[in-house]
Amino acid sequence: MNEHTHPVSMSERADELEEEKMHEMERIITRSTIAHLMDGNVKMDTSPEMRAKHPGQFFLMGDDPRLPPMPEKPTLVDYFRHRFASTAHLLQSATHALKDGHPEKVVLACLLHDIAIVSFIRCDHGYWGAQMIEPYVDEEVAWAVKTHQALRFFSDETVGYGYPDLYKELFGPDYRPEPYIVEEYKRARAHKWYMTSRLICMNDIYSFDPNAKVNLDDFVDIIGRNFKQPKEGLGLDNSPSAHMWRTILWPTRFL
Ligand SMILES: [Fe+2]
Ligand SMILES: [Fe+2]
Repeated sequence: MNEHTHPVSMSERADELEEEKMHEMERIITRSTIAHLMDGNVKMDTSPEMRAKHPGQFFLMGDDPRLPPMPEKPTLVDYFRHRFASTAHLLQSATHALKDGHPEKVVLACLLHDIAIVSFIRCDHGYWGAQMIEPYVDEEVAWAVKTHQALRFFSDETVGYGYPDLYKELFGPDYRPEPYIVEEYKRARAHKWYMTSRLICMNDIYSFDPNAKVNLDDFVDIIGRNFKQPKEGLGLDNSPSAHMWRTILWPTRFL
């Protein structure tokens, strides 16, 4: 409001918001090419085609009204609550690590190890997840998230980790990791932070209990101490991975 406008009553403001929302609903929502690829189609939503289908409408360039609203300056916790499709496995992994008395960076690594899967993309999720968090966490945490992608396929009897039975069920008995995964494993095995990534794998396999009682509130302080929340909001900052968070914030923005 400025000096030339009259004060807006609560109900007028509510009407305005309703009106804005209606208009937002009328915006053209596009799907990215990767969404079509995931449906088995090599195709894209083009603007002439979409405008012909929705005459007189503009493309969506912000919040998708179908998704839960996010605060103006979202935090990692907001993404957990409003964008991550499932958090039980992450919370269970982190709870195991916490109960076993591991340092906070191990607990954080467990809490974040599969965020790419629950919010973004499955293929190469360890690499995607590591890039998402790299600017905001200790280097060791991002490294461990990246390399769990490979380590989880290789046993280490010295710590009691065998090839997961679950993988035999999920991928069949004949699945063998691709050469780039084997090479990543070899590099990780020789790395000084090997055990941090191995601990992700160890806490991973015990974390698929549908009845486990877990709560994100138990980890809010650990996140606060170990995740450098940008003051502008996660995704609205200038970090090398901010665009990835923005894409999760606004997955259907036209550009
Ligand atoms: Fe994983
Ligand atoms: Fe996992």
